[in-house]
Amino acid sequence: MPTFPPLKNDLLLRTARGETTDRTPVWMMRQAGRYLPEYRAIREDHDFFEVVETPELAAEVTIQPVERFPLDGAIIFSDIMVVPEALGLTVEMVSGQGPTFPEPLATPDDLDRLVDPNIDAALGHVFDALTRTRHELEGRVPLIGFAGAPWTLMAYMVEGGGSKSYRHARAWLYRHPEAAKDLLRRTTDVVVDYLIGQVEAGAQMLQVFDSWAGLHGPDTFRTFCYPYLDEVASRVKSACPEVPLVVFAKNAHYALDALADTDYDVISLDWSMDPEAARETVGDRAVLQGNLDPCALYAPPDALRRHVQHMLAGFGPHHHIANLGHGMLPDHDPEHARVFVDTVHEQSEQMRTV
Ligand code: CP3
Repeated sequence: MPTFPPLKNDLLLRTARGETTDRTPVWMMRQAGRYLPEYRAIREDHDFFEVVETPELAAEVTIQPVERFPLDGAIIFSDIMVVPEALGLTVEMVSGQGPTFPEPLATPDDLDRLVDPNIDAALGHVFDALTRTRHELEGRVPLIGFAGAPWTLMAYMVEGGGSKSYRHARAWLYRHPEAAKDLLRRTTDVVVDYLIGQVEAGAQMLQVFDSWAGLHGPDTFRTFCYPYLDEVASRVKSACPEVPLVVFAKNAHYALDALADTDYDVISLDWSMDPEAARETVGDRAVLQGNLDPCALYAPPDALRRHVQHMLAGFGPHHHIANLGHGMLPDHDPEHARVFVDTVHEQSEQMRTV
């Protein structure tokens, strides 16, 4: 394992482990991205996957929001699509459309096209980016690694890109349930090794994004989503017991109670969930993260401050990591991100004195 500069701000890690702290830690999903002029400047000369695959550029972009705002964490600049690429599929980032697979997995026969990847060879660029970023952060804040959850990756690999209903991917669950499980198992193995590799390279916390968990009903969730999410957590936890694990299962309201029984330390909520109700369901089984509606950042600063205060009050002062309910959007005003972060700092300290 490489050695790194000592961590000066460990608020995020301590809160994720369930400790009580003097302030609520704060970071934002997609905090590095197109809303930042300094990110757009880099993207003028380099395409998306070039930034992801060049450790110097990935490190620079990861640190941009940390330079600008008093955040409590940095998330490595990469994409969940690096795992389908490692499995042998081609992914293109089409402007305005997001990730696109020219040749998605159309039928179970297409599983023969997948490879059993050598993780270091296929994903070593992410590990290099993590190690470099850890050094360049100089211990300012912890570095978060991440991966897509098996189901969300399957949804993209079968559908071929973004979609409203993901009917092709969901059809597989009914037409080809055994092939779907085979695909999910193979993806799970890669995700587990990839996450453990990220820790060895320098990641101090890990988040698993199941952005399309909400497409399931309770039955398909239990069969095709939850077991793989659960397995990712238990296998990574046994390899890296000291690293907090976060799960973001977007729109999966019915799953909250079950998620609290997994090895994830933190459950990240989207904005449709009520903080108090979520706390009631989860109790002390997990720390909660979230969940301001990203569109609240379009409000004028005074109104935005009130929305942030309301959210913080709903979660209460402890066992909460402030974040958005989903990612920053390209037309967000960076100054409103600052209002979000500053309000968490001010209010969460004040909440502890009353
Ligand atoms: O700052 C960070 O949060 C780290 C970087 C990060 C990116 N993607 C960079 C990115 C993270 C954590 C992701 C995860 C990711 N990627 C998810 C899970 C989180 C979620 O949003 O639900 C998903 C579903 C993807 C797939 C993906 N990548 C989509 C749907 C898109 C298009 C989105 C858009 O707004 O156009 C991407 C592209 C992408 N990934 C961008 C960034 C900054 C924008 C691409 C660009 O610079 O042109």
